Amino acid sequence: MKQYEELVRIAIKMREYSYAPYSHFTVGAALLSKKGKIFSGCNIENASYSPTICAERVAFFKAISEGEREFKAIAIVGGKENEKPNDYCAPCGVCRQVMNEFCDGDFQILLIKNENDISVYTLLELLPKGFGPHNLSK
Ligand code: THU
Repeated sequence: MKQYEELVRIAIKMREYSYAPYSHFTVGAALLSKKGKIFSGCNIENASYSPTICAERVAFFKAISEGEREFKAIAIVGGKENEKPNDYCAPCGVCRQVMNEFCDGDFQILLIKNENDISVYTLLELLPKGFGPHNLSK
């Protein structure tokens, strides 16, 4: 699908903006809203370590802070800096939890090894039986 090709291209490009002087592991993400807008993200590390934020959450928080609330898919790519990835980079547990706040179980998660090797999962597959907004609603 054309929109997913664009998503993959942007995620790969975003690794170039990653700030990862400690782990030297650069990640790029591109998030597609249901309205068709794309929000990009890269990981941003910190000397104090814990303020580090993943590429996926940067993309989500950019989108939410611009009024977007409904999402269709996210493309993610990560690996050693200045190298092509040698594996898929699956989202960490915290990012899965953030996805679960705003996305349905059928939200698509595209894990990119390269343009020709992409593995697609749903959020429900990567976060089964998650805790979410429904747990707090009456
Ligand atoms: N990281 C991400 O940005 N996304 C992931 O899905 C996994 C991990 C970042 C956090 C940190 O800057 C570096 O990768 C190593 O953990």
